[in-house]
Amino acid sequence: MADRRFVVLDDAAALAAAAAEHIAGILERVGGRGAVCLTGGGTIGPVYRRLAQPDLAARLPLDRLDWFFGDERMVPADDPRSNAGQARATLLDPLGVPAARIHAIPTDDADPHTSSRRYAAELAGFYGSDRLDPARPLFDLVLLGLGSDGHVASLFPGRSALAERDRWAVGVDTAGLAPFVPRVTLTLPALASSRAMLFIVAGAEKRPVIAQLLAGADLPAARVRCAGPVLWLVDRAAAPDTLIE
Ligand code: 6PG
Repeated sequence: MADRRFVVLDDAAALAAAAAEHIAGILERVGGRGAVCLTGGGTIGPVYRRLAQPDLAARLPLDRLDWFFGDERMVPADDPRSNAGQARATLLDPLGVPAARIHAIPTDDADPHTSSRRYAAELAGFYGSDRLDPARPLFDLVLLGLGSDGHVASLFPGRSALAERDRWAVGVDTAGLAPFVPRVTLTLPALASSRAMLFIVAGAEKRPVIAQLLAGADLPAARVRCAGPVLWLVDRAAAPDTLIE
């Protein structure tokens, strides 16, 4: 992958601090209206909390940013498993982001496929077209976590969603890892339409999959492309020896 860089941080706290600093550094340079694609999972929570602290929050051009999501679990917005719920509680509400700027993936529909169509339409409305122009990325920054099976967003290994070339979002009936609820996920072409991408990965259970990725394994995380630089911030526990030496 072009322009892929790994940085290893000492521990989870240093990882959260470095990730939040990197996000603020990218977003403060956004010219005009900007779009951020947020992620879910346990690793990102401390990053959001750090980013919401006043010194970093003051650097964000909040009046020009719209916030989207790379995936969502089909649970109510106030369920602890909701990615949008977590982002609101830890980042968006503390920052005072108005509801109109928060583009949560709808979960009020029983069918994730219907939700994915609604979300794709919302993204296209924001973008002003339903065709992605390589010269004009959809997002300024995409945040991603990494599953221990190599998944990103809710693109699990071996699933047909990985092959999607046209739609920007798809429904996932059965998740590959917990929580085992249906999901909606952005597709590889939608995630790739970004000026920058940041992976944030922590914990020893992620070390084997990072080693596999470095060895060239064809996992979802290896298939994600980006129009701009891709930075992997990894804590020491997740870092294979080849990254530390
Ligand atoms: C989700 C995700 C998912 C997550 C990774 C890492 O909704 O589950 O967006 O892709 O980022 O599974 O999650 P952890 O940080 O909890 O390991």
